[in-house]
Amino acid sequence: MEVVIVPDAAAGGELIASAIADLVVRKPDALLGVATGSTPLPIYTALTARVRGGLDVSRLRVCQLDEYVGLPKGHPESYRATVLREVVEPLGLPEEHFFGPDGSAADIQGACEDYDRALAAAGGVDLQILGIGTDGHIGFNEPCSSLASRTRIKTLTEQTRVDNARFFDNDIDQVPHHVITQGIGTILDARHLVLLATGANKADAVAATVEGPVASLVPASALQLHPHATVVVDEAAATGL
Ligand code: GLP
Repeated sequence: MEVVIVPDAAAGGELIASAIADLVVRKPDALLGVATGSTPLPIYTALTARVRGGLDVSRLRVCQLDEYVGLPKGHPESYRATVLREVVEPLGLPEEHFFGPDGSAADIQGACEDYDRALAAAGGVDLQILGIGTDGHIGFNEPCSSLASRTRIKTLTEQTRVDNARFFDNDIDQVPHHVITQGIGTILDARHLVLLATGANKADAVAATVEGPVASLVPASALQLHPHATVVVDEAAATGL
């Protein structure tokens, strides 16, 4: 695992955007796995600036890490709508270049299996962007998730629902209880994992991820098992290292 400490979130965004730009030059139809949350936004801003500056991403494909279950199709806080707004539209990608699990399917188990198949059929993820929860979760793989898990339905912990209530008018009752998430095993299939963590509230989770034992209690620690994992942290998130 490679750990890179940057001065601040913007520098982390620039660094990761440059890795994505290198990938796209090398492989124009690369599959980029994107994460939601506040942390990756500087990556998308920096990448959008590169596209405005002439980087050709017209063949780039994008896929989701996770999704809420049960939100109506097109709900502005569904992760599909979020990724369309924050990544696909700013980069000027056609919507057909973007796919994710169907959180409104009648058969959720089937939708999870379909998604793992779709990822494989697309040739696998070339670079997966990850954030990290304060409890060390990646995607929506909460502590104690199997390190070999595949895409499946999960129940959110109370803490994660509280953390995400800010996207739902600060009303926890609006935050779904269930989600579809790529499993940890699914995430580890990506060729390059890039986790960005910024801010002092992530310092404990980062220390456990990088220096702790590989343990299902800290899902992000599974990155230690991956042959090409990069953890980019700002100085505030690095204080526990
Ligand atoms: C959610 C997402 C994760 C994200 C996490 C942290 O749980 N499913 O992918 O990493 O939030 O979000 P933030 O970056 O806003 O702290």
